[in-house]
Amino acid sequence: MAKRVVVLGGDGVGPEVTGATTHLLNEAGFALDIQTPPCGETVIDEYGTALPDETRDMCGTADAILFGATHEASIIIMAYLRFVLRTYANLRPLKYYTGSFSPLADPEGIDFVIVRENLEGMYPGREGDIPDLAKALPDYRDILGKKFEDLGEGKFAIRVITKEGTDKIARFACELARKRKQKGHAGKVTCVTKQNMLRESCGLFKQRVEEILKEYPELKYEHFHVDDAARRLVRFPRDMDVIVTSNMFGDILSDLGAELVGGLGIAPSGCYSDENAYFESVHGSAPDIAGKGIVNPTATILSAVMMLDYLGMESEAQALEKAVESVYRKGETLTADQGGSDSTTEFAEAVLREIK
Ligand code: IPM
Ligand code: MN
Repeated sequence: MAKRVVVLGGDGVGPEVTGATTHLLNEAGFALDIQTPPCGETVIDEYGTALPDETRDMCGTADAILFGATHEASIIIMAYLRFVLRTYANLRPLKYYTGSFSPLADPEGIDFVIVRENLEGMYPGREGDIPDLAKALPDYRDILGKKFEDLGEGKFAIRVITKEGTDKIARFACELARKRKQKGHAGKVTCVTKQNMLRESCGLFKQRVEEILKEYPELKYEHFHVDDAARRLVRFPRDMDVIVTSNMFGDILSDLGAELVGGLGIAPSGCYSDENAYFESVHGSAPDIAGKGIVNPTATILSAVMMLDYLGMESEAQALEKAVESVYRKGETLTADQGGSDSTTEFAEAVLREIK
């Protein structure tokens, strides 16, 4: 039976990239039952929300979800996809396709992934006024012996790292590194924290990753502080295989990683729970170019590749990825972010021609 996929375009360029990708998946003849229920800013007037109940229900029972992007006003969609569906593992592959517009002199062979913990750390924001924190923690003293009440007016943000959450993301990263090793990758997990300053929270993250790693003796392991990791990504990107890190570090490093391999127009992602998964580009709604038909749909098409893999449609996934690869290699049909002048749909058509 055809797998049931719910496509949520969302806002800004979202509907353009999911529209182009849906067209491509349909025309390629892949056995998918694709549904496109209402969502996003434009439906708020009619439904009173950017995520109507019927849409939510369809997502809850779908085999997979393909998502475009959201504006601030409909951030509820992302909150649902991540925090309600509990998609704890945000997998972001950073792979260079020959012909894409990397700023590096030699990007050939870059092929690593970031496994970003998706539900903890600094997100969702748990913030407030410092005087309230002073009331809650009257005895707490920082490294200089200061209490919160000594700080005066201000705001705080709380960073949450749990043992359970870290064990789950660590295991996800290790399983992935094991699978990648079977396909010829290094079989290495790189843990990224800022444990030299955040001794408790990053300390726990690092400790749990190292504990879980013991179950995988065939994997190599290393740890870098996040500042060092950022530099290494630029200087030694080919040394990376599977990076595992907490939410905000993963958010930042994955934008950096995206630029290494050609920019946000290219970077896909998949967010996995124990029962469910949704797939989206790493880029946002890009309001400055929305509606112009020029956005690069590659990130969403490659997210669909990840989705097909997840759905057990490996040969379809491979065919689609090969087609994208070939369009970049030829370099004849490229969007503006890649130095070309072709439109969103022209790019998608070029990919389709490579499949057929
Ligand atoms: C991402 C995005 C989101 C995030 C924003 C839009 C909330 O930047 O998916 O990386 O920070 O997680
Ligand atoms: Mn981000």
